[in-house]
Amino acid sequence: MNLSLSMVPLLVLLFSQVARSFLLEGSPTSHAQFRKWNTGLNGTLEFEFKTEQGNGLLLYTDDGGTYDFFEVKLVESALRLRYNLGGGAQIVTVGHELGDGHWHKVQVTRCNENTTLTVDGVSAVSTSRGKEFEFGKLAGNSDVYVGGMPSWYNSKLTLLALPSVIFEPRFNGFIRNLVYADGENTVPRRQEMKSRNTKVCMLCSELIECPNLYTIRSLIYIWMRLFFHKKRDQLLQYNAAFYKTTLLAINML
Ligand SMILES: *[C@@H]1O[C@H](CO)[C@@H](O)[C@H](O)[C@H]1NC(C)=O
Ligand SMILES: *[C@@H]1O[C@H](CO)[C@@H](O)[C@H](O)[C@H]1NC(C)=O
Repeated sequence: MNLSLSMVPLLVLLFSQVARSFLLEGSPTSHAQFRKWNTGLNGTLEFEFKTEQGNGLLLYTDDGGTYDFFEVKLVESALRLRYNLGGGAQIVTVGHELGDGHWHKVQVTRCNENTTLTVDGVSAVSTSRGKEFEFGKLAGNSDVYVGGMPSWYNSKLTLLALPSVIFEPRFNGFIRNLVYADGENTVPRRQEMKSRNTKVCMLCSELIECPNLYTIRSLIYIWMRLFFHKKRDQLLQYNAAFYKTTLLAINML
């Protein structure tokens, strides 16, 4: 029994870790949807991504088809923010070699006319022209789309402030920790996905990255089987290997 009890903290750690990231496979329909970012004049938004591709749409939201939008994408392994708050489109680019298979943290920070794009602590600021710097009107604004746009937009281009967004290559990789600070929650808060469309199996995408899933699942399977057959000697032998490999897998997340 002491063995099964010793597994509990490990499994809690394992599943709290893995539930944080999700996979977008970059298919013609893959995307995830989150609530509106009520950015006001001073909201912030951040998330982390991991990919081996240099191009792809990371995030998009707009005012429902008038002028204002925020688009964050990877272009040749650099991070690019394009946005409009009414005074004309602005472009900010930071970072390089971001399609390197490692996690990178993106932050978009608003302060009236200034919008800052940061990747891994490196920032660039852009200043909007115009008279007011509100982002659309909350009621008409779109949700926040991550990794691609829902395909129903293909026949509703007038609802897009930046129609070209539907032609952007979809993001193929992992996303985690989308956090907003905005009119709804001035304290930064991690956002829950509203809906998703990916063809990846649920276990792969929601629990753990595919390569690791099989390792961990087979380890748990061996563990359980040995436990229920009460082959204690063998179990103890597997114990050390189990911990070592599982911790290794967690570190890879
Ligand atoms: C915006 O940036 C400009 C130039 O960097 C700076 O002079 C100005 O004070 C900033 N405005 C705000 C509201 O931070
Ligand atoms: C934005 O500014 C308002 C008014 O100064 C403040 O109450 C709010 O906490 C700020 N929001 C964020 C996300 O910083």
